[in-house]
Amino acid sequence: MLQCQGCHLPDGSGAPDSVPSLRGSVGRFLAVEGGREYLVRVPGSSQSPLDDARLAAVLNWLLREFDADSMPEDFVPFDAAEVAGFRHPPLTDVEGERARLLAELEGDSPHP
Ligand code: HEC
Repeated sequence: MLQCQGCHLPDGSGAPDSVPSLRGSVGRFLAVEGGREYLVRVPGSSQSPLDDARLAAVLNWLLREFDADSMPEDFVPFDAAEVAGFRHPPLTDVEGERARLLAELEGDSPHP
């Protein structure tokens, strides 16, 4: 509520053209290599004041809350140790990495 909904809104719908909706979307990243890491490293996650355990709990919650349908059956919840490992250094090319993952999900090659 305090750290994320200012941009993502309470229902995860985000803002057109600036904050992507998490609804029916965020779980897809789990299906692609690097996607799990991306969910932790994206600046809203990695740079939040939440500690590793809380960030892990928030990510587990938002995946279930907003995109349970795209979660793999064998989903292993994030924990503090995994979050700590991915969190630093921050992603530098966020847009590029997001585009690469989405292109991979669609079976396309990313456009340079
Ligand atoms: C200042 C606005 C802002 C805040 C605050 C914010 N986010 Fe985000 N979030 C974004 C934007 C914008 C993106 C799209 C990627 C990018 O450009 O950073 C995003 C992407 C994401 C994604 C990946 C979804 C996708 O489709 O790329 C996740 C997961 C996420 N945020 C989680 C969080 C969590 C958890 C918090 C709170 C701890 C949070 N965000 C706080 C703006 C924000």
